[in-house]
Amino acid sequence: MRRLDQLLSSLGYCSRREAAAAVKAGRVRIGAVVAKRPDEKVDPRLVTLDGEVLEAPDGLLAVLHKPAGCVCTHSEGEGPTIYALLPPRWLNRNPPVTSVGRLDKETSGLLLITDIGSIVHEHTSPRAAVEKVYEVELDGDLRPPLVEIFASGRIMLRGEEKPCLPARLEITGPRTARLTITEGRYHQVRRMFASQGLHVERLHRTRCGGFTLDGLQPGEWRMVGAGE
Ligand code: URA
Repeated sequence: MRRLDQLLSSLGYCSRREAAAAVKAGRVRIGAVVAKRPDEKVDPRLVTLDGEVLEAPDGLLAVLHKPAGCVCTHSEGEGPTIYALLPPRWLNRNPPVTSVGRLDKETSGLLLITDIGSIVHEHTSPRAAVEKVYEVELDGDLRPPLVEIFASGRIMLRGEEKPCLPARLEITGPRTARLTITEGRYHQVRRMFASQGLHVERLHRTRCGGFTLDGLQPGEWRMVGAGE
C-alpha cells in the first residue's frame, strides 16, 4: 500500500501538490471509487488517473533500440541522448530510469532501461556473467585463428592487468563477425579487436541476457512485461 500523492509523484505523473489537485478534481479512482484524499493508502495496481491505469507501478523495465549517434548520458553536451527517445515521464520517476550499462555513441542496438536497482546490479555485476551479443564490422579480413584467440581468455587490453574472459567469436563474413562476451569493460569489443590489429567500423548489440530487439527499429522501445 502506498500513499496516493507520493505514488503519483514517484511515478512521474505530477508533483505531490498537483496530485492533491487531481484528487480534488475527481480525476483519480481506486478501482471504481473516486479517491477522496491525497494521503489515502492505496494499492498502486488499482489506481487510475483520468481513466488510465498507472504505468509500471512496481518498477519499469524496457528494451530500447539505441540508434548510432546518441549518447547514454543525461548531459546534452556530447550530442543527442537516449533519454530524449523515452517518454519524459520516465525521467520524472523517482528513482528515474537509467540505462543498464552503456553503449558507445557510435554503437547501436539493445539497451535495457530501468528504474529497478536490482536489475542494474544483476546485469552489470561481473559475477552474473550476463551474455552480450554484438554484430561487428571490421576494416580488415578476419583470420580463422582469431576464433581460438578470442576463446583463449588471454586477450590483454591496453592498460589493463587482467586478460579478458573467454569470448565466443563467430566469423560470419570476410569482415563481419558475431561476438559474445560476458564482461562489460570500457569499449571492450573495440579494444579486443584493436588488440588483434583490427578496427571496428560498425558495432551493433543484438542481445543482452535473455532480451533481444525483437524487430524494434532504431529509436523504438518496448516495455518488458512482468515475467519476461
Ligand atoms: N564494446 C564496445 O567497444 N562498445 C560498446 O558500445 C559496447 C561494447
